[in-house]
Amino acid sequence: MTNNIPFKKHVLVCTNETCKLKGSEEIFLKLKERIKELDLKKIYRPSKVICIGLCGKGPNVLVWPEGTTYCNFSEDRVEDLIQKHLLKDEILEDLLYKPNE
Ligand code: FES
Repeated sequence: MTNNIPFKKHVLVCTNETCKLKGSEEIFLKLKERIKELDLKKIYRPSKVICIGLCGKGPNVLVWPEGTTYCNFSEDRVEDLIQKHLLKDEILEDLLYKPNE
């Protein structure tokens, strides 16, 4: 598979209705702000997406190119996402989407 995304990692935050009601807009804004503060804008890109089909498990956040899906994400985990997943490739196990649950 070819990986031709223009950033090292692309973080997709669902900001459709259900996730938004649970705070995804604030998650996106904090993520964007922290990436800017840390001068990481050219490497990591946060973007909003419209519904990934896991509304009941939101707020949902995906990280590409690996395709990691996090559920029940909250604003207070943004720093973990940056410091662990983005900078060290450490998965936030407790937030991982589990298809059979
Ligand atoms: S509204 Fe976020 S997954 Fe559907």
